[in-house]
Amino acid sequence: MATVLAIETSCDETAVAIVKNRHVMSSIVSSQIAIHRQYGGVVPEVASRQHVETVNQAIAQSLTDAKLDWSEVDAIAATCAPGLVGALLVGLTAAKTLALVHQKPLIGVHHLEGHIYASYLTDPTLEPPFLCLLVSGGHTSLIYVKECGIYEILGQTRDDAAGEAFDKVARLLNLGYPGGPILDRLAAEGNPKAFPLPEGKVSRPEGGFHRYDSSFSGLKTAVLRLTQTLQQEGQPLPVNDIAASFQATVAKALTKRAIACALDYGLDTIVVGGGVAANSGLRQHLQAAASQHNLRVLFPPMKFCTDNAAMIGCAAAEHFEKGHISPLTLGAQSRLPVSDVMTLYRSSANSHSAN
Ligand code: KG4
Ligand code: ZN
Repeated sequence: MATVLAIETSCDETAVAIVKNRHVMSSIVSSQIAIHRQYGGVVPEVASRQHVETVNQAIAQSLTDAKLDWSEVDAIAATCAPGLVGALLVGLTAAKTLALVHQKPLIGVHHLEGHIYASYLTDPTLEPPFLCLLVSGGHTSLIYVKECGIYEILGQTRDDAAGEAFDKVARLLNLGYPGGPILDRLAAEGNPKAFPLPEGKVSRPEGGFHRYDSSFSGLKTAVLRLTQTLQQEGQPLPVNDIAASFQATVAKALTKRAIACALDYGLDTIVVGGGVAANSGLRQHLQAAASQHNLRVLFPPMKFCTDNAAMIGCAAAEHFEKGHISPLTLGAQSRLPVSDVMTLYRSSANSHSAN
């Protein structure tokens, strides 16, 4: 059983965790949300500086909480792509340094692969193949998970990501940042059928609509127009009803595509990952629709939906078991398709040395 210390600094959480295979020994998440809230979104340079301030203390705390010392850690992992490069470099550089000093292998992890692996923390017996609906602040993808490191992207958003749509709608309603959890809370008090909103279909050049791709920018614009119309009429904004109608539209759009994709590809399990996996509307819609088709749906534990290092450690532990080790020259990359995960590892499948 591999024990991995993992660092995640791709965006606005400084996170460190120790994972023994698919079990979390410790997990520290230091959120920068309060700092970025005043700007209405993440400011990259502020994020990097904050990671520098926090990462060393989080590493020490993760070992204390897990009651482990360095001799009991088999490998050091860090998210190396995709994300804010300055932010990624803080965690990656810390991981490389620890790997060198303690003579441990380095394992770079793709952030989205981490989100896929978050559901292994719900069910450690989960095995591919399955479909992953990945819905975060930066991505909305349907991913065919074939085996560890082997992923095929079957569908994605053509514009805004699902989480981004939540954040933008919350911003235009002056509700604050990040928008997802706020809208989720308000939606619970509203009527999801109050306002019909467009689902955002993607046309295909040959006619008809794309079965798996999604689009959320039209939906965001529709919410903007709706609020402007209501404001012009001088009515108080029915924020709860708008939140509920918006959330139901997103949940239905994602559910429809995920179910179609799973059925078309003969996959009987849908695993959800990313911050929007915490959304109660999506959880209810998807669960209900999946059970009608005898499909299994798996969500990560709530605390591992949004960014954390436990999911990174979980992915890294499996790569380590398979002999997938990264070179110390590994760089941070702002973009990297999840289908290119295996470019992060050396071709040699049985070397566990640190360089
Ligand atoms: O996965 P994540 O923590 O970071 C990225 O990798 O992007 O996802 C953050 C996103 C934000 O857009 C946030 O508004 C959204 O996830 N989010 C939610 C909920 N909790 C977080 N969206 C809808 N409902 C929620 N409960
Ligand atoms: Zn994320």
